[in-house]
Amino acid sequence: MSNAHSSSAHPSPEGASPEGASPEGASPEGATPEAIGASSTDTPERTAPGNSALSTSAPGTKARRPLLSTHHPLADVGTTIFAEMGALATAHGAINLGQGAPDADGPIEMIEAAAAALRSGPNQYAPATGIPELRQAIAHHQRHYYDLEVDPDAGVLVTVGCTEGIAASVLGICAPGDEVIVLEPSYDSYGAVAALAGARLVPVTLRPPKWRLDGDALEAAVTDRTRALLINSPHNPTGRVLDDEERNAIAKVAIDADLVVITDEVYEHLCFDGHRHVPLATMPGMFERTITLSSAGKTFALTGWKVGWASGPPELIKAVRRTQQFLTYTSPGALQRGVVAGLAMGEAPIDAVRAGLDQQRGLLLDVLAGVGFDVTPPEAGYFITADASWTGVADGRDFCLRLPEAVGVGAIPLGAFYVDPDRGGAMVRFAFCKQPDQIAEAGRRLSALTQGPLRSSS
Ligand SMILES: Cc1ncc(COP(=O)(O)O)c(C=O)c1O
Repeated sequence: MSNAHSSSAHPSPEGASPEGASPEGASPEGATPEAIGASSTDTPERTAPGNSALSTSAPGTKARRPLLSTHHPLADVGTTIFAEMGALATAHGAINLGQGAPDADGPIEMIEAAAAALRSGPNQYAPATGIPELRQAIAHHQRHYYDLEVDPDAGVLVTVGCTEGIAASVLGICAPGDEVIVLEPSYDSYGAVAALAGARLVPVTLRPPKWRLDGDALEAAVTDRTRALLINSPHNPTGRVLDDEERNAIAKVAIDADLVVITDEVYEHLCFDGHRHVPLATMPGMFERTITLSSAGKTFALTGWKVGWASGPPELIKAVRRTQQFLTYTSPGALQRGVVAGLAMGEAPIDAVRAGLDQQRGLLLDVLAGVGFDVTPPEAGYFITADASWTGVADGRDFCLRLPEAVGVGAIPLGAFYVDPDRGGAMVRFAFCKQPDQIAEAGRRLSALTQGPLRSSS
């Protein structure tokens, strides 16, 4: 997708796409221009911008304009990389390690609570900012885990997944011409919503293998047009958890330049090896300028529910709400009740999700190392990144396009998470939120790579 400053791949990463089958959707990566906005009944001639068939007409008839604007901020964006690679995996019967969606559901108690709420009703619009029980549970969660005091009425807003929280925050905070700084590689929806806001995405690039933030580079990225920092930690796709030094650098820049900070913390509970997530909002001088976003999807392994939330100072949450009311207005009440049930269960179900993922992480690390990838254990999240160049390919996208057919496994090229996809090189991302038998089978299939390099098709 093209973001505000690139017409190549990324207006954002996974877009908005919650890395799921089709969920990842908003992502620009890999988007094919003609896929955007084309309905199933559209003919290519009717949807292709600039197609001369649209603008020429028979003598004596009125000249016709293209139905779709070529100036639309997402005009170059097609389907997300997640949808593209997911479809490829399905077509070849591949094990899809591309998609960041668990293949086993979270707590049955939550599912039963949501089902009971559907049966008992009312099945009408939930309150605009979210049901009070969930807003209170979110406020309690912030206090319990982080000692943060948020007002459950004015300081919490329930959203349709974190994706809507990101969109409503960026659209609610940024005006055309503003700049939004992100840590690159970055989730694909960031670029898309920045583009929709008329804002420019400014990447500060993290580099492998450590993927650490360079505080000087962050400071240098700030201009007098910078409106916000959009920070994701724990980070997708690198699995990094920002440490004290990096968080201090972010807080210093934000405070010095008077910036709003939007933090995407969807992997907040999925930290491993003693790494600890510390919300930026807990740092001195930061609460009043920070919109904290999260979601039940990753925390409870219920990504399909799309129940997320924003929390922070009333002034900023009001700005998010201002936009969110025109996006979806509210999210499904029964699923909100399911999340209330999950949050009421305390730490146990959250710890269980993390423990299961930790085990899966270990299995996939062994598989990838055994096959020949040089892997570093991710500190958090769902993903392991790896350089595929030892297989003979120079480009991660090329590798991921060929992998499903060649060996029966799906992956995602890291280029999809960059403003300039070339910066992703031969790096690829594998998801470990899959059942052990699936990871083991993926390992058997990937072992074919050791028998001969997967050479570039170009
Ligand atoms: C960094 C990041 N933010 C946001 C999301 C989307 O979250 P949700 O499914 O709650 O909309 C994802 C999903 O993959 C993600 O990886």
